[in-house]
Amino acid sequence: MAGKTENLLAILRAQPVVPVLIVEDAKSAVPLARALVEGGLKAIEITMRTPAALDAVKAVAAEVEGANVGAGTILSAKDFDAAVAAGSTFIVSPGATRGILEAAKNSSVPLLPGAATASEVMALREEGLEVLKFFPAEQAGGAAHLKSLSSPLAGTLFCPTGGISLKNAKDYLSLPNVVCVGGSWVAPKEMVAAGDWAGITKLAREAAALKG
Ligand code: 3PG
Repeated sequence: MAGKTENLLAILRAQPVVPVLIVEDAKSAVPLARALVEGGLKAIEITMRTPAALDAVKAVAAEVEGANVGAGTILSAKDFDAAVAAGSTFIVSPGATRGILEAAKNSSVPLLPGAATASEVMALREEGLEVLKFFPAEQAGGAAHLKSLSSPLAGTLFCPTGGISLKNAKDYLSLPNVVCVGGSWVAPKEMVAAGDWAGITKLAREAAALKG
């Protein structure tokens, strides 16, 4: 487990923002990932919310040099295994279930599971998981909530996601228990649909320059 945690931390620590993508058309995944990597965001989460998602992970894993593609919105052990088979280097879930935790134990690919309360964090710590997604960040109490967990639950690190943008990212990034944030704002639906890759690279650059 220690090795997997270190691998996950290495991926997340490399950038302040992990783009969260909903890919409608697998063909757009490669240019989109290239645009994000060019802007400095190498770790990319493709959510399993569309029929194109697995093909998108496969294409990015195979074709985009420098990208670290992860799969998000993993809701079952079956999803976990399919995402790993497609080439995901990390797995993100909005929460955690017994099935997902078992799949993660049997895999060399690290899991970033979601938690929003002290009890959820404690339950995941009992499973040996020390790096978690705080989700849904803004709606679950925002940076103030997460800050209040930093002393009693010292040692646990978070990637807050949900409702985060360029405006409030720093509120999270300045906390001692935050490694990075996740967000969809770096790849707006309209820009993806229009193939505005230069515009997305610009948004990625802005995000990559964020500091705590
Ligand atoms: C999601 O639920 O899609 C992710 O957590 C990203 O949230 P966001 O769209 O608010 O950045």
